[in-house]
Amino acid sequence: MDCKKIHIPVMVREVIELLSPEVDGVYVDATVGCGGHSVEILKQSGFAGRLIGIDRDESAIKSSAEVLIDSRVILRKARFSELKDVLSELNIEQIDGIIFDLGVSMLQLKDLSRGFSFHSESMLDMRMDQTTSLTAWDVVNKYPENKLEQIFRDYGDEPFARRIAREIVRQRSRKPIDSCKELSELIKRIISRRGRLHPATRIFQAIRIEINREIDELKEGLRQTVELLKSGGRICVISYHSGEDRVVKNFFRDEEKKGRLKILTKKPILPSIDEITRNPSARSARFRGGEKL
Ligand SMILES: C[S@@+](CC[C@H](N)C(=O)[O-])C[C@H]1O[C@@H](n2cnc3c(N)ncnc32)[C@H](O)[C@@H]1O
Repeated sequence: MDCKKIHIPVMVREVIELLSPEVDGVYVDATVGCGGHSVEILKQSGFAGRLIGIDRDESAIKSSAEVLIDSRVILRKARFSELKDVLSELNIEQIDGIIFDLGVSMLQLKDLSRGFSFHSESMLDMRMDQTTSLTAWDVVNKYPENKLEQIFRDYGDEPFARRIAREIVRQRSRKPIDSCKELSELIKRIISRRGRLHPATRIFQAIRIEINREIDELKEGLRQTVELLKSGGRICVISYHSGEDRVVKNFFRDEEKKGRLKILTKKPILPSIDEITRNPSARSARFRGGEKL
């Protein structure tokens, strides 16, 4: 799949303005995906600049390698929680800036075999790293009803969490719920369409966050970042749902209280109407930035 054709990076201008890359700085793109933000960071960097691109998805590393053909770039398959290990392996002790553009990429969503898409006949999967064992199928077919309800509420803000959890358990007692389409059809029978949002959006998001341990990964990635940033170094985080944004907001606030971080965005920066028109997948983005003290 051609990354350049399917993925439009979100809030690039805002990220670059806040990151304000130094020509010879060391930058980390912790969610390299299709390389959209990395390309822009490299445009600001000089000959001695370096960019470390990280992603937990092997296919993102392969696709971004086709876009980031540049001797200043090093790509590694890793998770946020492995940030310090990756950098220490590269003998990098400190960094000038980092970007986290959370969630899934178009590359993952559009590949129907990965089981992220509502319309896919493929098995429920949703693993960003295909070498891990827990899949969306396991969550949907094995989690107890109360645990399903809790993740739908906590990670999806789904008002119909209880009804959907109950219906999943009822249906799977007859036959396992195997494909993405089977699950989204079940949800559609309970919830009617919400504006432009597919009724299954929140449930799919919640399951994805659960199986990829996205909240724990984010917390650990932020913790390691503050240790790695130089004084004056900058952190940019784009999140796409309230739970993630809350983690970032609280983390920034706590670090500011400890005197380690200065918050550069008192309120999250939202994408412009113009950007949302050009790229509707940017609509829920919230961008926060900080500077290491
Ligand atoms: C929204 S996409 C990034 C797109 C990228 N900024 C671009 O413009 O091309 C998010 C990427 O982060 C990766 N990702 C999500 N959580 C991760 C984690 N904990 N560790 C490493 N990569 C992660 C996903 O696999 C996905 O490729």
